[in-house]
Amino acid sequence: MINFKKTGTLKDHLDAKRAAKMKIGFVPTMGALHAGHISLVEAAKKENDLVVCSIFVNPTQFNDPEDFKKYPINHEKDILLLETAGCDILFIPAVAEIYPNGTINLLHYDLGFLETVLEGKFRPGHFQGVCQVVHRLLEIVIPDNLYLGQKDYQQCMVIKRLIELIGFSGKIKVNICPTLREEDGLAMSSRNVRLHADDRIKASAISVALRYIKENIQEGNLSGIKEKAQQMILQKGFRVDYVEIADAHTLALIGNWNGEKKLVALAAAFLGKVRLIDNMIINP
Ligand code: PAJ
Repeated sequence: MINFKKTGTLKDHLDAKRAAKMKIGFVPTMGALHAGHISLVEAAKKENDLVVCSIFVNPTQFNDPEDFKKYPINHEKDILLLETAGCDILFIPAVAEIYPNGTINLLHYDLGFLETVLEGKFRPGHFQGVCQVVHRLLEIVIPDNLYLGQKDYQQCMVIKRLIELIGFSGKIKVNICPTLREEDGLAMSSRNVRLHADDRIKASAISVALRYIKENIQEGNLSGIKEKAQQMILQKGFRVDYVEIADAHTLALIGNWNGEKKLVALAAAFLGKVRLIDNMIINP
């Protein structure tokens, strides 16, 4: 695996690979890698000639400064995991490489409705930050294939929208990979290492509640099942941001289900100071 820190040298290297007709797969991350991230690298390996992974804790997407300060960093372990997975290129830039003109007055993206619901509503500015960094990374790497995790369901939709907005539709294919989970159902996340041991035991409640929705949902009014799922999470001591059921294609919140529309259940909640999110497609 070759490590790059500078944008210019990475671009030159990839230009040569592209000229040699190599297909490039890209996995953007913020590091503190786990098996979920590695599953994206493995998917990219299967479908491309060259796999590029980036590790960059993007300051502009943290609406909570405390969360940014406490974001886990473990480059040595990350490098080992990526080497083992057969990643070809790692890009670990400094902030100035990504934001050469600083982090204020960056572009604003018209994300429409997506920015007003769920994560957009509870983390103001977060998706603008995601778009700012992913736009820059895509312009540097110009991949054929981009790999994202379903774990961040709304982020996948936002990045698809970004790709349209910046004119990369048809050039970059977005591949969404399934959420990898711990044995008890907890979605793998870099933030899980911040959970205290007793909270770690309770943390599976989110996936249990989402599964409850998936297995018990019936057409008609959904407020009862949402309330029940929320109670399951609250009982474990979480502070709940939302438990919602939405149209899987648009994320419009659904109060009454016709029994046919494809749905996704999504939840976000804090255990102590750690915010966890998860989702499940209800009727694939
Ligand atoms: P990060 O949280 O590091 O996640 C990087 C990628 O790994 C994302 O596409 C995410 O959805 C995926 N991922 C995380 N947990 C997963 C799991 N349990 N199973 C499968 N995939 C999983 O998401 C970000 O970083 C950033 O917002 C980023 C897109 C890199 C922009 O800064």
